[in-house]
Amino acid sequence: MISWSSALALAAAAVAAAGDKNSLPRFEAHGREPGAALMGVSRPEPRDVAAEVRRRGFYAGDAIGAGDCSTCHEDVAAQWAGSVHRFSSFNNPYYRVSVEEFRKEKGFVASRFCGNCHEPTVVATGAIDNPIDRTRPEPQAGVTCVVCHSVTHVDLEGNGRYLVDLRPVPTEKGPHGARVRPPLMAEPRFCAACHKVGLGPEITGERWLRGQNDYDAWHISAVSGNGAGSVFRPPATQRCQDCHMPLEPAVKGDAAAKNGMIRSHRFLGANTALPHLRGDAEQEARTAAFLRGKASLSLIWSGRDRLDAVLRARGVGHRFPGGTMDSNEVWLEVTALDGAGRVLARSGDRRPDGALAPDTHLVRAQPVDGTGRPLLRRDPQHMRGMAFDAALTPSDPQVVRYLVPAATARVKARLLYRKFTPAYARLACADLPPATRGRCLDLPIVEIAAAELAAGAAAPDDPALLIDWGVALADATADHADEARAPLERARALAPKKVEPLLGLGRLALRLGQTDEVVRVGAAALALAPEHPAALALTTRALLEAYRAPAARSPAERLGRRLPGDRTALALLARARGLGGDAPGALEAADRLLVIDPESEEGHYQRAVALRELGRDAESEAALHRYDFHRVAVETDLKLREGWRAQHPGHADESEPCHVHRLVEARADQPRGRRSRVPSQR
Ligand code: HEC
Ligand code: HEC
Ligand code: HEC
Ligand code: HEC
Ligand code: HEC
Repeated sequence: MISWSSALALAAAAVAAAGDKNSLPRFEAHGREPGAALMGVSRPEPRDVAAEVRRRGFYAGDAIGAGDCSTCHEDVAAQWAGSVHRFSSFNNPYYRVSVEEFRKEKGFVASRFCGNCHEPTVVATGAIDNPIDRTRPEPQAGVTCVVCHSVTHVDLEGNGRYLVDLRPVPTEKGPHGARVRPPLMAEPRFCAACHKVGLGPEITGERWLRGQNDYDAWHISAVSGNGAGSVFRPPATQRCQDCHMPLEPAVKGDAAAKNGMIRSHRFLGANTALPHLRGDAEQEARTAAFLRGKASLSLIWSGRDRLDAVLRARGVGHRFPGGTMDSNEVWLEVTALDGAGRVLARSGDRRPDGALAPDTHLVRAQPVDGTGRPLLRRDPQHMRGMAFDAALTPSDPQVVRYLVPAATARVKARLLYRKFTPAYARLACADLPPATRGRCLDLPIVEIAAAELAAGAAAPDDPALLIDWGVALADATADHADEARAPLERARALAPKKVEPLLGLGRLALRLGQTDEVVRVGAAALALAPEHPAALALTTRALLEAYRAPAARSPAERLGRRLPGDRTALALLARARGLGGDAPGALEAADRLLVIDPESEEGHYQRAVALRELGRDAESEAALHRYDFHRVAVETDLKLREGWRAQHPGHADESEPCHVHRLVEARADQPRGRRSRVPSQR
């Protein structure tokens, strides 16, 4: 019988640091260090850890932090050992450079903020408040088994605000499971603890800003069962755990396996750079395989010498790309070839140093500093807003336009993913020992999707593609209204039972301010798909826009019943009730919205309005104050955008949907055939 580790047997209780939200979690040690408890038994000798850190720049030997769990949970431990969670701390050069810069600028104590998510063990020991000795085992442990398996409470604001219960782990079957698997762990809310970031004034020195936030992006979408406005609804809902922790055969005989299967702890996502750096070919290949096909790409001629690239996320539970928007690089490479297969022109080319050509279409958001300059060093403290946001939602298609040379015979396009920019890698890898520096700089590139189209190819006749194209164009500016209508009408004729073309037409009408038309189309959509949330949402919106609040009440209430936990639905309900004269009802809806998202700008606003209506002025003022705090100030963003535009002429329109990129002619002095030879993996 294997005995429990003494480290696990120690009693350490977590207490919330009242009033100082930024320092959560704070651990109170009883007798011994909670840092050691969070790591489980530290198997490797500190001496061996130090030697490897000096040789490679980080420790990747025996899994620090799997502790004694690994004796019975061999599969889980092995999977976790290659995961990003294990390498989230000073054992990750791409993270280290950024946190060290932050510590230099803001002080050691301020970096507890980062540490609560990236290195809870170092926060727990208190070492985070001092210069870090990277050769110690603690900074070489990331998010360990005991961290996750002790979380008892998470704040919906995320930001690493969670509580852990470090009671000893009992051996007996029932109590073991109860201690290490609280029901919270099965919920996406659990992941929100670290996958939802808000940058408060104490970080930015200025306004509050939303940071990376996969949790709300998931919650607001149809993947979670919400997504009131979503034209497309997946057949089944999925949690974070379903996609990132799928069941996998337990080949090593894990004690917790059921029918030979175990929840994967590889936490596959998009990070190919970290496994590549370590030479972990399996995790790298699995990550690339996980990524491939997660967005689709289709090409359609939309005019003479003009091409539309239609993009849509497939099987993503939040925005694509997820995670950090400033360093994840996803782009479109579009190449025009002549009749002999020679490259005529290209967009999305790479320079010899790996950097992308300046006019490349990036699929992501672009955070900028106060002057509109892009954040290039993963320095969230300098972020002031977004210059553009071209990330894909889980289901809304997107169109990007390309102008190609007249002599084009064929066009090839690829959607490519690189985890970091080469410039950022140069920064992060600079002081690594030669043994690892080369691999750190060599960032893998994964091909997500590819498409080809010959000159003169006919318009598509596939209803699914016509719908994607039409819906994407409907979301663009009103100038494209007619272009959007044609494919949607065609799709409707080809597939009269499908509701999506009608919903696309409804969106288009709303964009054009044709509110009666929206109501008409909405009714037709509801006849095809009873209580379809998007049809109810469109109808409610149109009626509110037409100042017909009493009429909006009925679809709003139906939507509220259809999706009771959806924030878009609750915001519409609050508006319809409030404008219809039902202030108590509006307050009830706003309060429900704020339970789901305590930082909702719209929620605080609707609450403030309802409270004023009810004569509760002091409370209304307080709500207005919260609204101002979380409000995305349009004027500020416009100013930042201006700054960006002035500095990036080739990229000036990125914030406009359906903007145009012109392919850059291949230079005559370069061997043309060779230019198109780009390896597909790297
Ligand atoms: C002595 C062997 C042993 C050790 C050590 C051990 N476990 Fe377990 N664990 C088991 C067995 C057997 C099961 C399946 C039976 C059960 O659920 O209790 C299990 C089940 C689990 C489950 C699933 C519980 C459920 O209800 O579905 C989790 C989670 C878990 N262990 C986590 C851990 C963690 C984290 C550690 C290290 C702190 C650990 N275990 C250490 C033997 C062990
Ligand atoms: C990032 C958080 C996280 C880390 C780190 C983590 N786990 Fe888990 N683990 C989970 C979650 C979440 C579940 C439950 C998933 C669900 O219910 O869908 C789980 C489930 C399990 C299970 C039950 C598996 C099953 O198929 O039912 C075991 C056993 C387990 N973990 C052990 C470990 C061990 C051992 C480690 C360290 C080597 C570890 N975990 C690290 C989050 C984590
Ligand atoms: C205690 C904090 C914490 C919790 C809880 C947590 N994560 Fe993470 N997770 C992180 C950090 C930190 C990183 C990034 C590490 C890095 O890149 O340096 C990360 C990275 C990831 C990645 C990225 C992998 C990649 O390839 O880029 C995925 C996927 C992921 N987490 C999924 C989950 C899921 C699903 C849950 C809930 C079951 C969860 N995490 C819970 C802290 C956490
Ligand atoms: C329907 C499946 C699905 C669901 C549900 C889902 N994800 Fe993902 N996730 C993906 C895919 C596919 C990717 C890779 C493409 C991308 O980056 O969007 C990914 C990427 C990520 C990344 C890595 C980004 C990076 O840069 O490496 C993180 C972190 C993440 N997801 C966290 C979460 C969290 C937290 C949840 C729940 C709130 C969640 N995911 C729900 C499919 C899903
Ligand atoms: C609420 C939790 C949380 C906080 C707080 C947080 N991060 Fe992260 N960070 C994450 C997650 C999750 C990822 C993974 C997203 C991805 O893979 O795109 C990440 C990714 C990163 C990365 C990209 C490196 C990599 O390997 O993916 C850097 C650099 C980084 N964080 C730096 C910081 C710094 C510096 C701070 C403090 C100023 C900080 N983070 C605060 C959760 C957090």
